[in-house]
Amino acid sequence: MNISYKTYLGQNNGVYKDAVKLRWATFVVEQKCYDVPDEDEKDLISQHVVGYYNKIPICCARIFVKDGFLVWGRIAVDINFRKNNIGIKLLNFLKDFSKSNFDFDEVHIHAQYYAKHFYERAGFESYGDKFIEDGIEHISMKLKL
Ligand SMILES: CC(C)(COP(=O)(O)OP(=O)(O)OC[C@H]1O[C@@H](n2cnc3c(N)ncnc32)[C@H](O)[C@@H]1OP(=O)(O)O)[C@@H](O)C(=O)NCCC(=O)NCCS
Repeated sequence: MNISYKTYLGQNNGVYKDAVKLRWATFVVEQKCYDVPDEDEKDLISQHVVGYYNKIPICCARIFVKDGFLVWGRIAVDINFRKNNIGIKLLNFLKDFSKSNFDFDEVHIHAQYYAKHFYERAGFESYGDKFIEDGIEHISMKLKL
């Protein structure tokens, strides 16, 4: 499956709009997270990443710097395309892009606890205790770049 990626900084662009549609379907509708706004102030400072298959947006993420740490977030694969290694390919793209465009030797995420194995498959290590964020169990994880 050939996926082409587009990246864009900030919110005023088509890549961001495609990402937000996928994020809404995933984090708000599918995961029923209606109480917390999906779009937030970090979107303005994020590099937004969308992967396209036959011009259809099928996966997304955002990359930003917070408190001196490089962070990836809002990582999602369209529900109809899961379990096809698209998530792992997206993480590989994020890794290459982060190495080329940011001066950090590691990246941090707040992983939903259920997806811990997915991130471990990509080399992430968990640290600290589980915690609740937006009503969902999470764990901190990091990856050497
Ligand atoms: C998590 C997510 C991005 C994975 O995407 P995907 O394209 O289905 O994942 P892949 O096909 O690349 O899977 C790669 C590996 O992770 C594992 N994996 C994927 N989803 C998993 C899950 N829900 N639970 C446990 N392992 C999972 C796969 O089994 C595979 O491991 P294996 O090679 O040992 O079999 C996708 O399920 C998703 O978008 N979920 C909803 C949004 C979300 O919760 N994002 C995470 C926020 S922290």
